[in-house]
Amino acid sequence: MLKQPLRFAHEVLKEMVTIGDTVIDATVGNGNDTLLLAQLVGPYGKVYGFDIQKEAIKSTEDKLILTGQKMQVELIKDGHENLDQHIDDDEAISAATFNLGYLPRGDKSIITKPKTTLVAIEKVLNLLRKQGIITIMIYSGHEGGIEEKEAVDRFVENLSQEEYNVLSYKFVNQVNHPPYLYIIEKK
Ligand SMILES: C[S@@+](CC[C@H](N)C(=O)[O-])C[C@H]1O[C@@H](n2cnc3c(N)ncnc32)[C@H](O)[C@@H]1O
Repeated sequence: MLKQPLRFAHEVLKEMVTIGDTVIDATVGNGNDTLLLAQLVGPYGKVYGFDIQKEAIKSTEDKLILTGQKMQVELIKDGHENLDQHIDDDEAISAATFNLGYLPRGDKSIITKPKTTLVAIEKVLNLLRKQGIITIMIYSGHEGGIEEKEAVDRFVENLSQEEYNVLSYKFVNQVNHPPYLYIIEKK
């Protein structure tokens, strides 16, 4: 059976991220991606995790402590658009994940927004090392989701092919705004 987009993103991250790497979770939420990244980089690596909701930061912190993965994770309650204020510009980032939309089981009115999402993606691209990747899960079924989806579609389609490989992973015959994935690789 073909993998769902989020599962596919995780498989690619498992392949690309290794012990000791520095990575970013740009949308921590319930901490599932943060936990995976923490396990992949191990105790000598580093995960920067961003979210604007204190509930997300708190539940993720609890999850990381329970699983013994907190040491290598810095959780930052700030918008990912400000990530350059928290990460030195000489850090070589090997991977970053964006999981757009609202926090599942949380406040559905707090959503990622096109403008700040694109600022954050651009800032990550500047920090990304060669062969580094960004995974971006797109959800467009909620109010405001279509605008963000269209902005990200336009942005990634216009990235220079000399500098980046951009992959989309999408079930094209599903109804009702199926989630899909972009992976950007810096050449
Ligand atoms: C779809 S959820 C993330 C799910 C998460 N990856 C997980 O594994 O549970 C999107 C998250 O983005 C957060 N968010 C919204 N705007 C943000 C911003 N500007 N910077 C960082 N996080 C933001 C929301 O608070 C929400 O928790």
